Amino acid sequence: MVIILEIRNKFISLRWKLVSTYLLLVLLTLLLINSFISESMKVNYINEKKMSLLAQSSIISSRLSYYIPQVNIKYANNMVHNIVKDLSEDLNSRIMITDINGKVIVDSFNILEGQRLNNEELALALIGKSTAEQYIIPKYGRVMYVAVPITNKGRIIGAVFISSSLEDIYKNIKEIMKKFMILSLLSMVITGFISFVFADIISTPIERLTEAVKRMAQGKFNQKVEISGNDEISNLGKAFNLMTTKLEQVDKQRREFVANVSHELRTPLSSIKILAESLIHQEKVEEKIYKEFLKDIDSEVDRLNRIIDSLLSLVDLEKENLNLDYQITYVNYLIEKVINSLKPLADKKNIKIYYIEREKIQIMLDQFKIQQSLINVIGNAIKYTPENGEIFVELYSNSDEIIIKVRDTGIGIPEEDIPFIFDRFYRVDKARARKTGGTGLGLSITQQIIALHQGRIEVESRINEGTTFYIFLPKKAAVNI
Ligand SMILES: Nc1ncnc2c1ncn2[C@@H]1O[C@H](COP(=O)(O)OP(=O)(O)OP(=O)(O)O)[C@@H](O)[C@H]1O
Ligand SMILES: [Mg+2]
Repeated sequence: MVIILEIRNKFISLRWKLVSTYLLLVLLTLLLINSFISESMKVNYINEKKMSLLAQSSIISSRLSYYIPQVNIKYANNMVHNIVKDLSEDLNSRIMITDINGKVIVDSFNILEGQRLNNEELALALIGKSTAEQYIIPKYGRVMYVAVPITNKGRIIGAVFISSSLEDIYKNIKEIMKKFMILSLLSMVITGFISFVFADIISTPIERLTEAVKRMAQGKFNQKVEISGNDEISNLGKAFNLMTTKLEQVDKQRREFVANVSHELRTPLSSIKILAESLIHQEKVEEKIYKEFLKDIDSEVDRLNRIIDSLLSLVDLEKENLNLDYQITYVNYLIEKVINSLKPLADKKNIKIYYIEREKIQIMLDQFKIQQSLINVIGNAIKYTPENGEIFVELYSNSDEIIIKVRDTGIGIPEEDIPFIFDRFYRVDKARARKTGGTGLGLSITQQIIALHQGRIEVESRINEGTTFYIFLPKKAAVNI
């Protein structure tokens, strides 16, 4: 049963489908060619035979037209006999000569002499029509009857009747067809072999791809298939390899993200646990210490909330059908609003924020989201600038974009960290960031919001000198929307 199933599976595989299709095509072509050749050979040979028999009959007829009228003369009778006998041997056919009444004068087989021949062809010949017809006679097989009138001085005086076997011709054709069949069989074997090799070339890479896809379905994303060439299948292989590379990256990012999230959530949670436990296990705790501990727990809960809010923002931004709430907005006022909201933070560190508006600019944007980005970038500038520092926020534009430049005189970002600051959870100084309450998600959210507006964000920084962020937003980004 298993074997039958396996064989069935094999036979319906692409390889066998291709091989059987090729074989069927070749078989059909060969059958058509063979039957066409055999038919046209038959027609040609028979026609040739017919023509030659008619020609021979005409020759005999003209040669005998002189002797027939004198049949009662012995010499003439002998002559006719001799001519007929010789020709009968030459033509390998039976020749009969009849008089005008259809009575056989001479029969090369010496059987029917003196008897009347009753035959359609002869009847036609005796009224002046030369005819040739093919018959199948049970005893002799295929034969051709040819009858031609014998005339003398314009008068029909008798007929030549030839009966010739066609079996030789059919035997010949059969022989030739046999050779053709052998050749056809040979070409079928060769076709079978070539198509098998060809089918193998096509199906092997597909089988490899299938195997790789199956392994991927088990969660092993590091699959690569080795496919050379430049046809559709190898292109499919290349696309597959590209897809697995991408999937691997996505899977890695997902794992890192989950690990980071768990780590980030666990830190405040364990602080809360330690604080709560130490309160539970201590007896007679002063109210002051209680309050202090609860304040710490409260700030850890805040931190947890901030992380969760940021994560929800990120998930929100990644939604496929996310629609931005575009509104025509004066960017000047939006920046002003953000600066005002952050001023108390800056004041605490005695940091001065200068706002340089080079022009009044109005564009379409999602106010809430851009505000969220600006709060993070300007907030970072305040967070990472020591006391008494300065921050310069500048708004200007070129022909097709507006630029918001945020420069601080803060701690700067080491060169090797710059490429990663937009990554999720990336913080240059982790210990310090914890103190300042950073989650490392701000810039990642900012970058996504700006990208959704078809803009971009760039950074320049020097350690201990300061950092400058440039936010580019296209002037026409939202006009078409
Ligand atoms: N203006 C800046 N000066 C110096 N370092 C900066 C500045 N802005 C960002 N960074 C560095 O880039 C890191 C990533 O910034 P990001 O805003 O994503 O996170 P965060 O500020 O630490 O936390 P969050 O914004 O989520 O509260 C920061 O931790 C900091 O190390
Ligand atoms: Mg930040």
